[in-house]
Amino acid sequence: MRTNTGQIVHLENYRPTDFVLERVDLTFELDPQETKVEARMIFHRREGVSPSAPLVLDGDELVMTGLLLDQEAIPGTLYEATDDTLIIRELPERAPFEITVTTVLSPETNTKLMGLYRTSNVYCTQCEAEGFRRITYFPDRPDVLAVYTVNIIADKAAAPLLLSNGNYLGGADMGDGRHFASWFDPHPKPSYLFALVAGDLGVVEDTFTTVSGGNVALKIYVEHGKEPRATYAMDALKRSMKWDEDVFGREYDLDIFMIVAVSDFNMGAMENKGLNVFNDKYVLADPETATDADYANIEAIIAHEYFHNWTGNRITCRDWFQLCLKEGLTVYRDHEFSADMRSRAVKRIAEVRHLKSEQFPEDAGPLAHPVRPTQYREINNFYTTTVYEKGSEVTRMIATILGRDLFKKGMDLYFERHDGQAVTIEDFVACFEAASGRDLKQFSLWYHQAGTPLVTASGVYNTAGQTYTLSLEQTVPPTPGQSSKAPMHIPLRFGLLLPDGSEATPTAVSGAEISGDVLHLTERKQSVTFSGVPAQPVPSFNRDFSAPINLHVVQSAGDRALIARFETDLFARWQALNTMALDNLVKAAAQTRAGRPVACDDALVDALLAAAADNRLEPAFRAQVLSLPSETDIGREIGGSNDPDAIHTGRQAVLTAIATAGKDSFARLVHEMSQSGPFRPDAESAGRRALRYSGLFYLVYADGQPGKAADAFRSANNMTDLSQALTLLAHRFPDAEETAEALAAFKERFANNALVIDKWFAIQATIPGAATLDRVRGLMSDPLFNANNPNRVRSLVGTFAFANATGFNRVDGEGYRFLARQILDIDARNPQLAARILTSMRSWGSLEEVRASHARSALEEIARASSLSADVSDIVDRMLE
Ligand code: ARG
Ligand code: ZN
Repeated sequence: MRTNTGQIVHLENYRPTDFVLERVDLTFELDPQETKVEARMIFHRREGVSPSAPLVLDGDELVMTGLLLDQEAIPGTLYEATDDTLIIRELPERAPFEITVTTVLSPETNTKLMGLYRTSNVYCTQCEAEGFRRITYFPDRPDVLAVYTVNIIADKAAAPLLLSNGNYLGGADMGDGRHFASWFDPHPKPSYLFALVAGDLGVVEDTFTTVSGGNVALKIYVEHGKEPRATYAMDALKRSMKWDEDVFGREYDLDIFMIVAVSDFNMGAMENKGLNVFNDKYVLADPETATDADYANIEAIIAHEYFHNWTGNRITCRDWFQLCLKEGLTVYRDHEFSADMRSRAVKRIAEVRHLKSEQFPEDAGPLAHPVRPTQYREINNFYTTTVYEKGSEVTRMIATILGRDLFKKGMDLYFERHDGQAVTIEDFVACFEAASGRDLKQFSLWYHQAGTPLVTASGVYNTAGQTYTLSLEQTVPPTPGQSSKAPMHIPLRFGLLLPDGSEATPTAVSGAEISGDVLHLTERKQSVTFSGVPAQPVPSFNRDFSAPINLHVVQSAGDRALIARFETDLFARWQALNTMALDNLVKAAAQTRAGRPVACDDALVDALLAAAADNRLEPAFRAQVLSLPSETDIGREIGGSNDPDAIHTGRQAVLTAIATAGKDSFARLVHEMSQSGPFRPDAESAGRRALRYSGLFYLVYADGQPGKAADAFRSANNMTDLSQALTLLAHRFPDAEETAEALAAFKERFANNALVIDKWFAIQATIPGAATLDRVRGLMSDPLFNANNPNRVRSLVGTFAFANATGFNRVDGEGYRFLARQILDIDARNPQLAARILTSMRSWGSLEEVRASHARSALEEIARASSLSADVSDIVDRMLE
């Protein structure tokens, strides 16, 4: 029997609330087990609503101790409080009225980390998406915007710091060991943006002067002693504020902007108005404990949450189906920010790698859903890479189709038209149509049709006529609930490269709209003819990854090498080399499976080594070239009946072949990329570290001995070098003495730093091979393992399931059985975390049949469990459909 299966919510059933909420006054008397919350809400009946319509408020696991209408108790006959709603009847027809709800909460035992909870003795809240209803009965939906006043009362010694949204109004000592503080947020907001933090924390302070001269106090709160590790986050915040003014014309709108870092958090971070709450993983950094990737993530996530102030907070979502309205757009904005702060091409490559390894599999499996879904059972399961990352790509395509100026005009119109409103994707798209005069109806299918489109292309050159004809065809695969799809508007950036590497400039084109280097593919089949092409060209498609599609073009290694050498678009160069490598790795997997020796193409080795040694290319780009497609990438390309062991073994053989052939160049790289002087986290220094590591990686593969990795571990003076050396040792030589020593030394050195110990767990969880499951089991009883900390659970259990293809997909199915038990265990405490980790099995249907049948049994075991959260049952049911 399921305890909570969740109702299906449908977009088409949307309608506004019967009552308008004007303002909210909240008073919290904080206590670990018995926090008293008084919520005073002023409502009025909306014009035209029947006088008999009751007020219906949302709730979740609430204990209500009082209910008043205009300060008078409401008789029991006039209200009904159930598990998830409070219904109040016979309310005034016209006049505004005040409802006061009193509830009692136990933050300390709130292990779901939704609503008000405790983390390291700090009170904190997480309300998105539906956590506010765990604090009080409330119209907990994003289209209910109200002005909030918040009073917080707490023990002064335990919680000297009392924070909420908006501006500080004042506070005082209460004389009884307690004190209070009041906050007022003048900007009407939905309840999911509410936040409260109280506790004893250290702070890093700064100020920012906005473009129109406003003074903003900036504060980042962290655990005492961790202040020095918050300075990079502060720097990233100031750069974000400036960038949003410069690029999007958006200014901050309160006297104070606060960030609080907490160590128990379900997601990355949360954009509560004026009071962002962060997973401390995305705030804390110093060279000794944070990698270059950590620095880049911190910069991006600080920016992301800050940018939400306009895209999310000032303009919010009408309902949760519109989640991509704020998330897709805000990811697009943080991508652009990082591109401006770092190397644009390298940033784009990293984004596309992430999109392909996370979002493409989601879009190709049982959890596929449109960027703007039309139904959900549990909204927390829709904070997906499709809504975020594909949502960002869709925004990027609007910019590509319209061009920079019209896109800007559309954004300006959006801010102007909808400031202070809760709107839809249709409202958003309409702004770009109005600004550009362009019809975006077909384009909007990107929001509504799930699945990654496949574009196939082939070309015919006519020597006599000097014409080149491209035949393009698009198909969108069927996805759950959507069996047939209409053709999409796909903006394909492209170039025709001539044999000498220059780009053809056709004199005429027929068969497609082309603007600049963008070809607008709009038909299912389209034939495009270019005139005045002097020689047989090599087409280079999807420059800058202008559309999130799969592309099949039959091209020789020679064609790809030409693109890799001469393309002006750096992304396309990387893409050509990566595709060349992918072809080889797919072949290697097949050879391994057939019991044949693995062959590595000379053309690939030559092209990789040429790019690696090309000093005109920035180091970070060269490192991206040397980092071959992952096992997940290879599996996705093979597409079905996958054998993760064969993929792994084939890939290892290709890596070894490249390493052996390029030994001298790799030694040279390591030498050239060595750095002296103090650690700097900037992109350029990070790029040199990355390329040096690529060199080391292949050298170690060429040697087949751990010596060089062990040396690198010993001589590392920053976390990037140290953790990479440890990874190389552990993954390549799991049983070597050097590995055991390094793991022990690392653990001892960082035992007091939770974020670094997460890395220690993750590195071991990703050691390839069947034996890792036992290691993971052993690590679960390590004193440092903590089943109540989401970061720790993700670092061990999550990383094992998501990122260890051979270990997790053991042919005997033990990996899946292990995960099933973990999911049930985690679900009892923290459903959101359990559901998220379970999505690691989303591609089970593309495994070969022995593994697939074990995977199915494990999913069925979860589905059969006696009590499952709505979160997990939603995921497991969709995966078994
Ligand atoms: N809005 C947050 C962000 O910036 C994510 C919050 C998700 N929380 C949740 N419980 N689903 O991306
Ligand atoms: Zn977001």
